[in-house]
Amino acid sequence: MNESAGVEPTTASEPLVLVELPAAGRDAPVDGVALVTLNRPKALNALSFELLRRLAEALERLDADAACRCIVITGAGDRAFAAGADIKEMAHATPVDLQAANGFEQWARIRAIRTPIVAAVRGYALGGGNELAMACDMVVAGEDAQFGQPEIRIGIMPGAGGTQRLPRAIGKAKAMDLILTGRSIGAHDAERLGLVTRVVPAEATLEAALDLARDVASMPPLAVRAAKEAVERAFELPLAAGLEFERRSFFLLFATDDQKEGMAAFVDKRPARWRGR
Ligand code: CAA
Repeated sequence: MNESAGVEPTTASEPLVLVELPAAGRDAPVDGVALVTLNRPKALNALSFELLRRLAEALERLDADAACRCIVITGAGDRAFAAGADIKEMAHATPVDLQAANGFEQWARIRAIRTPIVAAVRGYALGGGNELAMACDMVVAGEDAQFGQPEIRIGIMPGAGGTQRLPRAIGKAKAMDLILTGRSIGAHDAERLGLVTRVVPAEATLEAALDLARDVASMPPLAVRAAKEAVERAFELPLAAGLEFERRSFFLLFATDDQKEGMAAFVDKRPARWRGR
């Protein structure tokens, strides 16, 4: 099933967000993996409010689809994942406009997605683009990827999670450097600092992200969602509460068929067959 969502404001025939489920892999369809493409390559996939809304809608639809076990988000073209929020759209906005448009609510919708998401990043992941990559669960970066929060250079600051997620990902000192100077870092530095899961040759980025997503998609889905949720709590809760949350989730998985099947398969020395129940 292929579908697309959204309309490019400049060329009405071009969808802003493309959705493929299953994602077309190099050789064969990738079971359980959806590919979501930000599709404004001429604007380096800048995240207009409409694009963000379409993205949130697409992710929510996939999240509700039992056939979707893992999502890859990428940018169209080879120049950018996303070069940030749409500066042209925001240039004349007032605080009241921004509040009334409720555009930033899309970020909360993206954060609430329970299906694991892998970002496949080539080229620029700047401002809101870096914030979107950080909102994903893992980041596969091509060697040509660049990450940064350049908002300070246009008279503003990060507004979609950069000041909160970047220090958690790479520590205060490094995050302050990027946020207060606006400079960006390359893929290998981003990996060394913990912002990126793995770095691959640029042309291999999407396939590597799909491979990673396929690995996740082959795992028992209830355990995957529970584990994702518990890891997310590590950034929200004090340690004792996080450990308690983890233990309760762990115990709960013993109510699933997949726990019975996984342990029986181990004992029988055969591959497990997950039912997602
Ligand atoms: N918003 C709108 N349009 C953008 C854009 C953005 N964030 N980034 C690039 N574009 C557009 C350019 O305007 C240009 O369009 P035209 O051809 O119509 O002029 C096209 O994309 C190609 O860009 P460039 O010609 O600038 O390409 P370049 O190779 O010379 O430079 C770049 C690439 C360094 C990424 C440069 O485009 C750039 O600095 N972009 C802005 C990066 C930025 O400041 N991002 C933060 C945005 S604010 C934000 O994200 C707030 C938040 O936290 C939510």
